[in-house]
Amino acid sequence: MSLYLDATRCMPTSRPPIWIMRQAGRYLPEYRAFREKYGFLDMIRTPEIATEITLQPIRRFGFDAAILFSDILTVADALGSDLNFVEGKGPVISNPVRTMADADQLSSSSLRERLDYVPQAIRLLKTQLGDTPLIGFAGAPFTVASYMVEGGSSKDLRIMKELIYSQPETMEQLMDQLVKATADYLNMQIEAGVDAIQIFDTWAGLLSYPEFQSLVIRPIRAILNRLRNPAGIPITLFAKGTSVFWKELSQLPVQVIGLDWQVDIGAMGQLMPADIALQGNMDPMMLYASHEILEAKVTHILKSMADRPGYIFNLGHGILPDVNPDQVQRVVQLVQQFKNERIHA
Ligand code: CP3
Repeated sequence: MSLYLDATRCMPTSRPPIWIMRQAGRYLPEYRAFREKYGFLDMIRTPEIATEITLQPIRRFGFDAAILFSDILTVADALGSDLNFVEGKGPVISNPVRTMADADQLSSSSLRERLDYVPQAIRLLKTQLGDTPLIGFAGAPFTVASYMVEGGSSKDLRIMKELIYSQPETMEQLMDQLVKATADYLNMQIEAGVDAIQIFDTWAGLLSYPEFQSLVIRPIRAILNRLRNPAGIPITLFAKGTSVFWKELSQLPVQVIGLDWQVDIGAMGQLMPADIALQGNMDPMMLYASHEILEAKVTHILKSMADRPGYIFNLGHGILPDVNPDQVQRVVQLVQQFKNERIHA
């Protein structure tokens, strides 16, 4: 029925499914054409545009799953962060959370209304996607909190870490609000009809072990406990830079773990419980390689996962804006032509 959904359930598939993180975005000329006319936030807040952008990479490449065109910072925005996307800088939040008073200012009372454009886009997409499953998503509390505290992107989370270590009560208050808001947000997406969920914890790899437990594992578990998921749609967790904690990740009630490019995915396939599917993990910068090298790298990953049911091809992080779409086409072809040994041997 769906290669992607079968793979999330560790059912054998004729070939691995493929989609890529940030598959709708600036590397596509058809995205840039829209972006010349509209601001990024206007695009994600307009269901018709969000639908069109979500569909662009499906039409062009025939990916096995679509991911809703949106952003993880919509939740911060709905809670009261003053969010803007600034050219060349990325997200900027002009009222960062630095004290308990700042955290108390946030409010989830109109979360549903403020995020209503998301279920609207999901419902519209479901009428147009046909058999292609739709992945909804949210940022994990730690990563979203990082932007809310730093006020934007940061390479070392210096301000966030100061808050964690100097004002643990403020941190806890912020994380509590984000756990509730994120669970509500994901429940809205499930109600609207998404076929799967992915949780992104992009900065989890910057934490030491105790904080990884308290700020990544514990809040994500709390969110999963709050989900109303009657159809049992699959949940993926992508927590970049955390394979060293693979055991803790594998004990969460998720169906799929997304791996970044650093880890040997074949070795991880041996370590992880057989009922957890794996997704990943080609270095996004491998898309700058020559044809021969690209083919060898893609084939190596495919072969290393060929006899493990429950594998989804993806990159180890989002695709970069200056990648040539022809390179993506090549990767898609290689994956589509690959035959899993178990079924075809
Ligand atoms: O994957 C998809 O195609 C779905 C859409 C999606 C976007 N962002 C679109 C986007 C998803 C799932 C995200 C997640 C996201 N957003 C994450 C977690 C995953 C990751 O990449 O680590 C994070 C940390 C963000 C926050 C964010 N949004 C940043 C730091 C930036 C600026 C950096 C950059 O890449 O420009 C964004 C902007 C953003 N989100 C763009 C897109 C297509 C570019 C916007 C533009 O056109 O200017």
